[in-house]
Amino acid sequence: MTIEKTVSEAIHHRRSVRIFDEKKPLDTSRVKKCIEQATLAPNSSNMQLWEFIHVTSKEIIDEIAPLCFNQNAAKTAQQLVVFVVRKDLWKKRANANLDFIDSIYGKNTPKSEQLGREKVARNYYGKIIPFAYFDVMGIFGWLKYLLILIVGLFKPIYREVRKKDMRIVAHKTCGLAAQNFMISMAAIDYDTCPMEGTDTWRIKKLLGLPKASEITCSFHVESENLKESTASVLEFLLKKCTQKSRYLKEIVLILTPLFPMTSLQVLEPIHFYFFLFLVD
Ligand SMILES: Cc1cc2nc3c(=O)[nH]c(=O)nc-3n(C[C@H](O)[C@H](O)[C@H](O)COP(=O)(O)O)c2cc1C
Repeated sequence: MTIEKTVSEAIHHRRSVRIFDEKKPLDTSRVKKCIEQATLAPNSSNMQLWEFIHVTSKEIIDEIAPLCFNQNAAKTAQQLVVFVVRKDLWKKRANANLDFIDSIYGKNTPKSEQLGREKVARNYYGKIIPFAYFDVMGIFGWLKYLLILIVGLFKPIYREVRKKDMRIVAHKTCGLAAQNFMISMAAIDYDTCPMEGTDTWRIKKLLGLPKASEITCSFHVESENLKESTASVLEFLLKKCTQKSRYLKEIVLILTPLFPMTSLQVLEPIHFYFFLFLVD
């Protein structure tokens, strides 16, 4: 077992790896631990409006790969984790927070006997959160927004209350969890590739997710990195391009100091196909 990297090491180590070695062993329980660590990321109002789906079946990954437009990272990944935003669960999660408050302070304490802290927490999950999240086809959101515009003329006020604002809030939260996941993976020498180049509707259908859910990103994971071999493939392609075109060679010579090899490693294969297309 490898020794975990420090936070700085893991941050520097993490890159989007796009060609995975399908034969290298991957320990599912270690990936699971990284998913658990994703749940420890900060999340808006502790509403935890996400769900992480860990796909370990190669047959399902083979079905998902075409829905990721057959990107190499999708075709060669051993496992994948889908980060799903579940804004639709807001009522359930607000109630879970209220239940938690009950478990700490007791259920039926009269308001007059409640501690200040308890009152604030109950008001937050019982009134403010429903005010922020409740909406019907976005109409209530606009009414709230108008009200806030008026009140906001006189005092500082929270303004993100429309349907689209709440979507951003939920996606931000999910993105932070995803970053926790990737850094945790990097810390144990496991590589990832985030992927939004996907047909999210079809993936949702395949995974049996409800319509109201939204996929932030899927992460294709692998055991050890192939950065070096990826780099050599890219170097080979680059060489091929430059042999074919004198002009392209000059462009590459001008650009190279701006993009060290580490940056070239992360250029998506599509860029190279584009290069090849240019010089053909
Ligand atoms: C939200 C998001 C979506 C991404 N989608 C894809 C994708 O569909 N395919 C892909 O190859 N890389 C994808 N990437 C990876 C980026 O291209 C990559 O992070 C960027 O080039 C920087 O490289 P690095 O991650 O190695 O530092 C995505 C990254 C993010 C944050």
